[in-house]
Amino acid sequence: MTTPRDTLQQMATGYVEAKILLSAAELRIFDLLAGEGARASAVARRIGGTQRGTEILLDALVAAEILDKQDGVYRNRPEYEEHLVSDTGDHFASMLRHRNRLFRRWAFLEEIIRGEEPQEGASHFSPGTDRTANTDFIQAMVSASGGRAPQIIAEIDLDGVKTLADLGGGPGHYLAEFLRQAPEIEAYLCDLPLTLEVARELHQDTALGARGHFVAWDLYQGQAPADLPPLDLAFISQVLHGESPEANQALLTRLFEKIAPGGRVVIHENVIDPSRISPRWAAIFAVNMLAMTRGGRTYTEAEYHAWGAAAGFVPRPGKRIDGRSFLVFLERPLR
Ligand SMILES: C[S@@+](CC[C@H](N)C(=O)[O-])C[C@H]1O[C@@H](n2cnc3c(N)ncnc32)[C@H](O)[C@@H]1O
Repeated sequence: MTTPRDTLQQMATGYVEAKILLSAAELRIFDLLAGEGARASAVARRIGGTQRGTEILLDALVAAEILDKQDGVYRNRPEYEEHLVSDTGDHFASMLRHRNRLFRRWAFLEEIIRGEEPQEGASHFSPGTDRTANTDFIQAMVSASGGRAPQIIAEIDLDGVKTLADLGGGPGHYLAEFLRQAPEIEAYLCDLPLTLEVARELHQDTALGARGHFVAWDLYQGQAPADLPPLDLAFISQVLHGESPEANQALLTRLFEKIAPGGRVVIHENVIDPSRISPRWAAIFAVNMLAMTRGGRTYTEAEYHAWGAAAGFVPRPGKRIDGRSFLVFLERPLR
């Protein structure tokens, strides 16, 4: 039986094993061990590590049953290797490296709660600035939610939709799914330039790459680019939680003019209940946004509706898909 103390103990030590895994991914140790494996001395040389540090980390990964060790040679366990090495389709290794960067700010959570800025090297996460960090971030999105795209997009009525933009669409996995379900739509992926580079690379051989439009637009800075046509549907997934209520209100107000009369904005988010304590993940994810951003958190459906209504949209009832996914609907009146 798990006692209350066990529960607290488990929560308190969770970061230890997490950080062992994240540091190994950051140091690309799983890439070095792929296939034949290697001795600690060889790994230490390649990562610029000490013999002591490298060996202790590798042994802990063996104890955690992520690696095997035989006659001093460390190998990835076959069942984990495809997830831990870089450049695989599910981009899980990118997700681990992304999480490792987030960890730096999590370490200063008390300072952040007091409104103080943590020490250097633990700056806000700023998408679209550092190329390596941004590539990991955007590929991590594929790993986190790429597999869920068909289920989520199937919940959206695409009847009569001819022009559709995925705003802050990241790797383009949702837009690719829209195109799969409605191949005739004109599809626009709007995001920051560095993110579009990653998306183009990922979609070299897909329908989105062949016939989608990749449009640079800093959503929170300026008006929509003139070459973006009036939209029947604007999809915004997991973007608004990173910004303040004021910034989101301003974005929806600017967006209103870009939506065709009768068109819709669909916001896919970690929506939190009015109690602000459930779903569990929405409450925990709010702390992630507190740690990483200047004004973000998880919002209620009523908050999204209020910003939309103030911008001129008519709020429509949303759909909860599961503990992590909720669709908020806003409609531009016909006139
Ligand atoms: C958490 S990711 C979500 C990606 C994708 N929509 C999804 O749901 O998987 C946030 C996305 O918003 C984009 N983004 C952040 N700030 C932005 C801005 N000011 N203008 C345009 N895109 C932005 C990021 O580049 C990233 O693609």
